Amino acid sequence: MSENSQGHIPVMMQEVLAALPEETEKTPGIANGQKVVVDMTFGGGDYSRAFLEQTDFTVLGLDRDPAAIARGEALQSAFPNRLKLVETCFSGIDSALVKADICSEEQMNAGKVVDAVVMDLGVSSFQLDEADRGFSFMHNGPLDMRMSRSGPSAADLVAEASEEELARIFWTYGEEKASRKIARALVTARKDMPFTETKQLADAVESVKPRRPKDRIHPATQVFQALRIAVNNELGEIEMAIATAAKLLKPGGALIIVSFHSLEDRIVKQMFADMADKKSHVNKYRPEQEDFKDGYVLPFKGVKAPTSAESSSNPRARSAKMRVLKRKKERVAA
Ligand SMILES: C[S@@+](CC[C@H](N)C(=O)[O-])C[C@H]1O[C@@H](n2cnc3c(N)ncnc32)[C@H](O)[C@@H]1O
Repeated sequence: MSENSQGHIPVMMQEVLAALPEETEKTPGIANGQKVVVDMTFGGGDYSRAFLEQTDFTVLGLDRDPAAIARGEALQSAFPNRLKLVETCFSGIDSALVKADICSEEQMNAGKVVDAVVMDLGVSSFQLDEADRGFSFMHNGPLDMRMSRSGPSAADLVAEASEEELARIFWTYGEEKASRKIARALVTARKDMPFTETKQLADAVESVKPRRPKDRIHPATQVFQALRIAVNNELGEIEMAIATAAKLLKPGGALIIVSFHSLEDRIVKQMFADMADKKSHVNKYRPEQEDFKDGYVLPFKGVKAPTSAESSSNPRARSAKMRVLKRKKERVAA
C-alpha cells in the first residue's frame, strides 16, 4: 500500500480499479472518443493517479475543497491531456463535464456520457490533519469544518441553531445517545462565551459526557461527525450525486462508491436497490422514472470490504464498504 507525501493512504484502491468497466459503448464526440472516469472526490489525488497510471481512462477530478484542486496541479502537469480538474461540489458534476470540455451541454443533458463515476466519501487526511480546517479535536483550531471554505461554519451552526435543532443534528447525524443533554449544555454555555475552537467544543462535550474506561472513542467523536455532516450537507450531496451520476453513465458504465459510516452506506444501498429493482421508493433527487426502467444492475450482492491486510495496516479502511451500480448495456426503449 502506498502512502502519499502527507500521509493519506487510499482505501480499497485495487477493488475500485477492478470495478472500472472494461467495455462501454463508444460515443464519438465525447472526450475525443476516450473513456472517461469522474473522480468525484479528488482529495489527495491517489485514486486519480492510479487511474492515470494504470488505465487508459481520461480523468475528470472534482472536489469542493479549493486546496485539493490546487494540490492536483502537479499531477495535471504530468498528465496534461488526460487529467482535468474542476472545483465543485457533487451537485455540479453535470456542468463540470461541460466546463472541462468532456462533452457539450446538449450531450450532458441527454446523459450517457461517462464510463465510470467514483466516490470515496468523507474527509481526507489532509483536511483532518490541518488544524485550521477545524475538522478534528485532535488538533486545536477554529471550529470551521467547511470542505469548500464557504458558507456557514460549524461555529456559526453551534452559535445559531436552537437547542432542538442541535439535538436533532447530534442524534440524526452522529447517532449520539446524549444528544439532548449535550445540546442543552452547549446552548447554556454559549450565552457566556461563543464556541470558536475545536478543543473548546470537545471539552464542553466531555464535561457532560465523561469518558468511561470501556470507551474506544473520544466522547466528542459523534458530535464532531454530526456537525461535519450538517455543515457540508453531506447526505443530501450523496443523494444528488447518485441520482445525477446514474443518468450520466453510458450503457455498461459503473458507479463505484466507497463509504465509511452507516448513514452514508444506507443511502447508497437504498438508492442502488431502488434503481436496480425498480422499486418505487420516493426520492426528490431521483431522476425521471423512465431513465430507471430496467436500466441498472448490481454486479454483486451487498458490499465489498477491504482485505484484512488492508484493515490492519490502515485504520481508516476498517469501516470502508464498496458498492457498485452498473448501467445495463442494452439501451432502454423510451
Ligand atoms: C476521502 S477524500 C478522497 C481521497 C481520494 N480518493 C484520494 O485518493 O486521495 C474525500 C474528498 O472528497 C471531497 N468531498 C466530499 N464531499 C464532497 C462533495 N459533496 N462535493 C465535492 N467534493 C467532496 C472532500 O473535500 C475530500 O477532499
